[in-house]
Amino acid sequence: MKIKNICCLGAGYVGGPTMSVIALKCPEIKVTVVDLNEARIAAWNEENLDKLPVYEPGLAEVVHEARGRNLFFSTEVESAIDAADMIFIAVNTPTKTYGEGKGMAADLKFVELCARQIARIAKNDKIIVEKSTLPVRTAETLQTILDRTGNGVKFEVLSNPEFLAEGTAINDLFNADRVLIGGKQTESGQKAIQSLVDIYAHWLSPKQILTTNVWSSELSKLTANAFLAQRISSINALSALCEVTEADVDEVANAIGTDSRIGPKFLKASVGFGGSCFQKDILNLVYLCRYFNLPEVANYWEQVIILNDYQKYRFAKNIISSLFNTVSEKKITFLGWAFKKDTNDTRESAAIYVAEHLIEDGAEIHVYDPKVSEAKIIADMCYLWELNGLTEQKIASKMKQIFVYQSPIEALDQAHAIAVLTEWDEFKTYDWNAIYINMYKPAFVFDGRNILDAGKLNAIGFEVKGIGKG
Ligand code: NAD
Ligand code: UGA
Repeated sequence: MKIKNICCLGAGYVGGPTMSVIALKCPEIKVTVVDLNEARIAAWNEENLDKLPVYEPGLAEVVHEARGRNLFFSTEVESAIDAADMIFIAVNTPTKTYGEGKGMAADLKFVELCARQIARIAKNDKIIVEKSTLPVRTAETLQTILDRTGNGVKFEVLSNPEFLAEGTAINDLFNADRVLIGGKQTESGQKAIQSLVDIYAHWLSPKQILTTNVWSSELSKLTANAFLAQRISSINALSALCEVTEADVDEVANAIGTDSRIGPKFLKASVGFGGSCFQKDILNLVYLCRYFNLPEVANYWEQVIILNDYQKYRFAKNIISSLFNTVSEKKITFLGWAFKKDTNDTRESAAIYVAEHLIEDGAEIHVYDPKVSEAKIIADMCYLWELNGLTEQKIASKMKQIFVYQSPIEALDQAHAIAVLTEWDEFKTYDWNAIYINMYKPAFVFDGRNILDAGKLNAIGFEVKGIGKG
């Protein structure tokens, strides 16, 4: 079946960029991205491309070319579903915060709502594509809901997980290592797979497009994220050992990364991985393993998360102990709040947890991030405090310990210590001599990303503490 009309449910970090690229590369297909969040859709329709809801290098150019031509952002979910031959589900699948599986399982309520809505509206056969990251065998649930609550039309459910990373989304979509499409091994399943293959074939070569059965595709997404996060936890675990043995973690990473079997990528020691997915997807994997009565497998993967929490805690603890065991009323400047550079996304950013540890110890946290707004930073902290059950009074009191700046100069002025939480390139270009002059002495720099030139900073007079540096 030749696809002429695509609808995507969810205009977030995945739905927005992936559909923009599909629209750009397939000008003959009408692509409508819908969302329940009116403000988000309004932002996608902004004339001023600097105000798109997602910041990604190269995204504004893609939107500029395709929007209004064959790419549309809308809140009219029902008509978009009705008109589409193929519907992508790219809604959020966060960790459950309530009930059975709380804190571990993926919350599938948004996905289920999509399936029910599609079933109710669809008046002709449709291909449904799981773009959200889902537990293995979710396609079975979707198929049941679609078939049992629908109008007798035929649905083919495909799994097409997304592997883009934030900050490089457009490049990842243009030059994907692979796209993965899982479908049923039936004739109609294979036809549906081919329809989606044909879309990606507009810009990717056949060898970049892998097809599998549905379950392998669903499970490969969780597995990929688990393996990636495991590498970070592995090198971070060793960073602790480096610090007490005077080995240098970057040298160790380089030495092992040159072994072609290990490879050099994803071995950058850090304050801990963040982002909306690694933790949620591993917790989901752990939950699934326990559900299927595989406790040893569950415990193995859970350790990746335990180590990551330890790394964030260790970083905060190191700041406190270096500052003579008290940070009370001291100004600690955070350079960066986003979970990585080149994105405005802060979900599960290590900065949030490090800030919480330090605030609990009485510190004043002064934040500068080139892309994250004050409102977002405050919302991140409030969300954590509410989740931890703090009273309104306690939250209001803790709020007084956090300050956000539009410029790094003010944020850094009269600081007792600087903590680099995100690896933004601009931090390397600052006038560190001037910063040193305006700080309390000893002037500490805790480089949670190992991006600064420690030798140069030491020569200026700073006390520099990197991750995994003796
Ligand atoms: P997001 O929260 O940025 O966006 C999801 C959007 O879905 C929200 O705007 C929400 O309002 C909307 N939504 C929820 N229910 C809806 C409904 N019934 N109808 C229409 N819209 C609805 O989430 P995201 O980061 O784009 O992630 C989406 C999925 O993709 C998740 O499963 C995630 O694990 C996966 N994923 C994310 C990334 C990433 O880099 N962020 C990468 C790969 C996969
Ligand atoms: C990750 C995966 O890389 C994507 O393939 C996947 O599609 C996505 O999750 C998802 O499912 O959401 P993302 O979280 O956007 O992408 O960004 P990454 O580049 O993977 O970084 C994640 C975190 O790990 C960041 O906090 C980053 O700073 C940290 N990291 C990464 C390290 O600490 N060290 C490294 O060597 C690499």
